[in-house]
Order: sequence, then C-alpha cells, then structure tokens
Amino acid sequence: MNNNRILVTSALPYANGAIHFGHLAGAYLPADMFVRYQRLMKRDVLFICGSDEHGVSILISARKEGVEPQVIIDRYHNLNRTAFERIGMSFDNYSRTSLPVHHETAREWFVEFRDKGVLTQSVEKQLYDPEARMFLPDRFVIGTCPHCGYERAYGDQCENCSKYYDQTELLNPKSLLSDAVPEIREARHWHFPLGDYQQRLEEYIEKNAGRWKENVLQQVRSWLKSGLSDRPISRDMDWGIKVPGEEDEGKVIYVWFEAVLGYISSSKEWAARIGEPEKWKEYWCSEDTRYVPFIGKDNIVFHCLMFPAMLMEKGGYVLPDNVPANEFLNLEGKKFSKSMNWSIELNEFLDTYPADPLRYTLAMNMPETRDSDFFWKDFQARNNNELADILGNFVNRTVHFAHKNFGGKVPAAAELDEEDRLFLEQFSTIADQVGDCYERYRFRDAVTATMNLARAANKYFNDREPWKSIKTDAQKCANTVNCSLQAVYALSILIEPVLPFTAQKLRQLLSVSDPKALAWDAVKSWRLPDGHPIGERVILFDKIEDATIDDETAKLGKLTELPERHFPPLKEQITIDDFMKIDLRVGKILEAENVPKSNKLLKLKVDIGSEHRQLVAGIAAQYTPEDLIGKHIVIVANLKPAKLFGIESQGMILAASTEEDGPVVLTPAVLIPEGAIVK
Ligand code: 2FM
Ligand code: ZN
Repeated sequence: MNNNRILVTSALPYANGAIHFGHLAGAYLPADMFVRYQRLMKRDVLFICGSDEHGVSILISARKEGVEPQVIIDRYHNLNRTAFERIGMSFDNYSRTSLPVHHETAREWFVEFRDKGVLTQSVEKQLYDPEARMFLPDRFVIGTCPHCGYERAYGDQCENCSKYYDQTELLNPKSLLSDAVPEIREARHWHFPLGDYQQRLEEYIEKNAGRWKENVLQQVRSWLKSGLSDRPISRDMDWGIKVPGEEDEGKVIYVWFEAVLGYISSSKEWAARIGEPEKWKEYWCSEDTRYVPFIGKDNIVFHCLMFPAMLMEKGGYVLPDNVPANEFLNLEGKKFSKSMNWSIELNEFLDTYPADPLRYTLAMNMPETRDSDFFWKDFQARNNNELADILGNFVNRTVHFAHKNFGGKVPAAAELDEEDRLFLEQFSTIADQVGDCYERYRFRDAVTATMNLARAANKYFNDREPWKSIKTDAQKCANTVNCSLQAVYALSILIEPVLPFTAQKLRQLLSVSDPKALAWDAVKSWRLPDGHPIGERVILFDKIEDATIDDETAKLGKLTELPERHFPPLKEQITIDDFMKIDLRVGKILEAENVPKSNKLLKLKVDIGSEHRQLVAGIAAQYTPEDLIGKHIVIVANLKPAKLFGIESQGMILAASTEEDGPVVLTPAVLIPEGAIVK
C-alpha cells in the first residue's frame, strides 16, 4: 500500500441532537488530529463526514415535537456543522444523507445487490402499533421479559437478565410511542446475507489483527465467534430512502445500510464541488488508499463487519485499513444525559471558552483503550498549568525577551555550544516520536510528547539564563534567544494537530509564510533566518478562575426546564377507601447490595419502625448501594411479598420514572421518623 493517499471518515452523527464532548473525543477529534498530521506529512488526504439524517429516532423526535422530520434534521445538521467548524474540524466535506446524491448512491447499491440476487427476502412476525401506524423497532416496545419476568424489558433484550429474544415473545407488550398494545403482523423484509461473508471477514480481520486496537478486535472476534447471520436491511417506515420498486412500497432502506454509504456520497459531493466529479474514485476505488474510519465503540460491528462485507460484495472498493474505535467519554463520572442536564453542549461551551484548551483536554483524556471522563477541574488545570504555564509562558518570555533585547528580530547565532545543539536536536527526536504516535493512533501519547518540547524549551530558557548572559556574553545570549525562537517555530508545527488555532497564532507571530516551513519534517531542518522580524507577543491562553469552574460544575444536573415527556393516560378513578387500603410508610435504608447476575436489581434492608424489611428494587442502573444507605424513603408496606430473581421482596419502594432516565427514588424533604404513615 502507498501510504501517501489516505481516506479518513468520521462517523456521521445523527441529525437528532447536538453533539457533545463524548462524541468529539470518540470519532471526531482523533480523526482531525490524524488528518492534520498527515497533511503536514504532505500526504494526499481526503477527510469526509456529514449528518446521518434517517433512522427511526429522528422520526420519533419529529412526532414528539409535532413537526416534520425535515425540521429536526435541518436544525441539528446546521447546529452540528457550526459546532464542528468552531472546534476546528478540518473536513474536506461535511454532507448530509438527505441529499439526492446520497439517495441515488444508496439505491444504486441496494438495487445492484438485489438484482444480482445477493439480497434475500423473508417474512417475519413483528409488533405493529395500530395507533402510531408503524411497525415497532425493538427499542420502542417494552413488556415483561419471557425469561425472568422483569417488567420493563425492551423488544430485543432484557436489561435485567441480559437474555435476547424476539420482540413477539415479550409478555404484555406496550408501545412506547402511543402506549397502545401492539398487534403481531407479518412483514416481508430484505436481508443482507452477512453470514456468507464469515470466512472472508475472518481472513480480513486476522490479516490486520497485529495492527488493530485490542478493544476493537475483542468485539469483532466475539461477533465472529458467535457466527454472523443475515441482517434485515429494509424497514416499514415513511422516513428514509425508499426501496425502489412497486412491490416494496412503504419500505425504506435500513439506516445502517445506507449511512455507511454516506461516506461515499459525501466524497462524491466533494468531488463535484471541486469540479472533478470522478475524483472520489481515486480514494475509494483504489487499492492504493489507506482508508481509516474513526468511530465510537458502538459502531464497531457496522464498520468492521457489515460495511467491509458490503464493500467486498460491490468489488473494486478499498476496505478499512484500520478502525481505531474509541471507548466512551463520561462527564464527571456519569454518562452524558441531555435530559438530566448532565451534558455540555459544544456550541454553548464555545461561546465562553476557546476551542484549543478543550481539544487539548479531550486529547489528554481520550478514551483510547477504556472509558474515561471529562472533569471541569481537569480542564482548568490543563489550561492553567500546562497550556498557559508551560507553552504560553515559554512563547511569551521568549518573544518578550527578543523584543526587549534584540529589537524584535531573530538574533544571529554563532558557535552554538553543546547545550544549544542538544536542544535543537530534540526537535527532530520529538517530531519523530510524535509522528510515530499519530501513525499508531496513540493520541494521548502524541500530545504528551508534543508538550515535552514545550517543557524542554522552558527548561532550556531557564538553564541558559539569557537575562544574565546579556550582560556577560552577548553571543551566548543571542544563541539562546535564536534557539528559543526556533523552538517556537517547531512548536507551531508540532502542536498543529491538537492546537490548530494556537499553531496559527504562533505562525502569525513569527510571520512564517515560507511554504517549505509548513511541513512536519521542516521542524528538523527549516530555521527562522537571522534578522527575521517577530510580532508583538499575544496572550495565548487566558487562565480560568476557580469560581468559573465552580459555576460550571454547579450547573450540571440542575434542570432549568423539564423536557417534554410522554406519559401514559391517567388510570381509572378510585375511592378514598381504595386508597386507604394501601399502607405507605417512611423507611430508612439500612443495607443495600447488588443482586448477583442482575444489572437492574438491588437488595435492600429497610427499617420501617416496627420491623426490618427485605426489598428488591429495580434501581441498580441509577443508584449504587452506597448512594442509598442511610436514605429515608417511602415503601408500600402491605404489598403481598413476591420473588424477584429468587429473592423475596417484602414491599415496594416508591419512585418516579421516565422512560429515558429510569426511576428516581422519592425521599421526604425533611427528616421524618421510620414508620411514619404517608397518605
Ligand atoms: O451512531 C451514530 O451516531 C450513527 N449515526 C453513526 C453512523 S456512522 C456511518 F455509518 F455513517
Ligand atoms: Zn429478563
């Protein structure tokens, strides 16, 4: 393979919500860093992305808001495109899958596979919501698990016992769209025979295994081990790319089959835009291309198995050379959740803070091998103690010194000593180290090594004490300032992948316009000429105050506006006598522990004044045992005991629930003794 032509794609984000830091750290920032590095290596890079504008979740959002799906996708496509620009994503093209070029491309692939006899058809039983008038995707139906009896199991999998089943096996199913009881109807669907590619995919994966990330290989091998099977690639829906042909009226192409093709249609759009409509083929239809799709771990199966199988079937297309999928980024120890206001929206963040410190913080915490977190305090520390105090400080003192003592010009160096030479040699070593990290998709290491040059430069400046040598040895002082300014130039190149806006400021400061200087390898050889003018110093990074960070953390989780929610209709009226049959009591949680083999259940010991009760509650996803011990709660004390997972539950804890966020345990606002009656 020729390493000079590189095709990079970032997962197309759904135009159904604003992208947040988690997305950025997963599929976008690493891709942009990789691309910026490769461009400086003077490689021929095409960097592609766009909005994923189909799929059932967009339809659901539109229904909830009572607007057309087009309104939703226009809103989020524009919002996300702007956010990407502001954070410095250097896409060559940012497209959208609602464009005709994409519809044509997806249909062309589908029809070619169908006409070649690759696709198969089968009729399946599926749940249909008669009120919403649509077949229900698995995540939009809940009911009782056929295996463990858990009452809020989804259509495909029970989150309590983790078992998989067919949605028609669910007991007491309910549509989450309308609360209607779904009917079982037959639906005919097109399938892609993924199982037929098992062997070829195994060979493809094992051929690359030595270079791929362990987290990716593990997931892919586990899919391969359980055996690949046919995947349905049509849906009965009215939002998406219509399956061509009268007999398929009312069907659309499954979003995942067409979304991956969005990379190709976005490339076509780019080629047409630059006036060379066939040029996309140079990247996609050439064995000479190194293709790297950047994604989050939830997209692994589609990019490592499904898309490669589709590309193999089509023939003449390049397969991913590596799929450096990242794990997930959390926020202050918890998953991002828009509805719980546990999130930071990118555009809002960028209204207050510049892009580069965020890029730097996310890069230093990138979830490369395991989930990681964004902490506001860490952001502050990285900005203040690393970017401002190390990088900013070095540039500042160097430029200031050059202005004060050398008229703002690069002083001529002569007869460098060993220490100067060793310092200059580090530029080369570090450039190679950092480059090697980018080549191996090790972004944290790349940025750490980059900052090592700024650290070394500060140390060099300190050790050489030019403020002393200016009085005793003018040439030594000139050499120090010359070498330090050369380091500012070297940094302006090496920081470009992670801090592109600062890199640009540094090059402006140094008035570097020689195209030869704008290359990774130039760091090893190109030098600012003697007498070259230097601009006035600029503040590269403003420090962030403690109070600002305290304000930001205090905002997390505070709901200023409750999201609009869809709840079931009210139940039938009851009499006060009916209600008085229920004995509600205040209790105090004495003990709490996870129920083994259950992701959902906690076993609690509760003091209700007169006695201690054992309760089993489905709140393990929301609470850890430590969160609960000592809390006062309310329980239904006269509920007939029932067994859950083989453990007797002697009552029920009261909680308020939403589908999105699960139960929130109700607690009295003031301290009330155990046993007090609630009515
Ligand atoms: O997970 C997601 O956000 C999907 N929209 C990613 C699609 S990647 C590719 F297929 F376009
Ligand atoms: Zn179950």
